[in-house]
Amino acid sequence: MPMSIPRHIAIIMDGNGRWAKARGLPRTAGHKAGVETLRETIRAAGKMGIPFMTLFAFSSENWSRPRSEVSDLMGLLKLFIRRDLADLHRENVRVRIIGEREGLGKDIRALLTEAETLTDANTGLTLVIAFNYGSRNEIARAVQRLVADVSAGVLAADAVTPEAITARLDTAGIPDPDVIIRTSGEMRLSNFLLWQAAYSEFVFLPCYWPDFRPSNLAEAIETFQMRERRFGGVTAQDIAL
Ligand code: IPE
Ligand code: IPE
Ligand code: MG
Repeated sequence: MPMSIPRHIAIIMDGNGRWAKARGLPRTAGHKAGVETLRETIRAAGKMGIPFMTLFAFSSENWSRPRSEVSDLMGLLKLFIRRDLADLHRENVRVRIIGEREGLGKDIRALLTEAETLTDANTGLTLVIAFNYGSRNEIARAVQRLVADVSAGVLAADAVTPEAITARLDTAGIPDPDVIIRTSGEMRLSNFLLWQAAYSEFVFLPCYWPDFRPSNLAEAIETFQMRERRFGGVTAQDIAL
């Protein structure tokens, strides 16, 4: 059984609101606690030698939340980048942001670009932050680029292959996630990495995101290592029988 560390772990950080509610606190308190967990998780992933980790921080559907919550979430992202970027850089973390930039505030866009530019040459953990991210939106934008290339005569219509689509997604150059973890007991993707998740293993955990600890990450990796990935084929054992 291969005991290799997954190349790419993606996490749907869910349950901040319920965590806060269970404590009689406002939802924002849950989001703040969630940022602490995010810091701890990034550090743990770096130590474990995981090459890529994607964190779902804000979905393209999260705009439908109350204005005050949306603005709290935007504020927390800004604060996180301002406070943590230097540390991440020192820890050799390479930051990539996926999601639609258009529609975000100018100040946030500048911070996202700064995080990517500053850490571009780092060789440790690649931290992918999915912000204003929705998979259908990402695929639609990739299709727009394809259509533009076809109309410009750069790409033949029959060259529209899965690889050509993959290369135009926000995640271009990032391997597909081996494992997708979702906390809070929900068992759905909520428009996260639909294309990239074709052969991902799913680990659903009952704990709310602020309660997620590095030990949960280690356990999720162990669960992944016990799974038998087939990619549509058969295993060597099946052939022997
Ligand atoms: C996840 O926690 C964080 C974001 C979506 C930004 P939620 O805010 O979704 O928490 P619940 O699901 O309401 O408990
Ligand atoms: C998914 O969680 C988005 C993030 C974790 C950022 P949601 O809480 O928004 O998803 P639903 O609404 O339960 O599907
Ligand atoms: Mg939620």
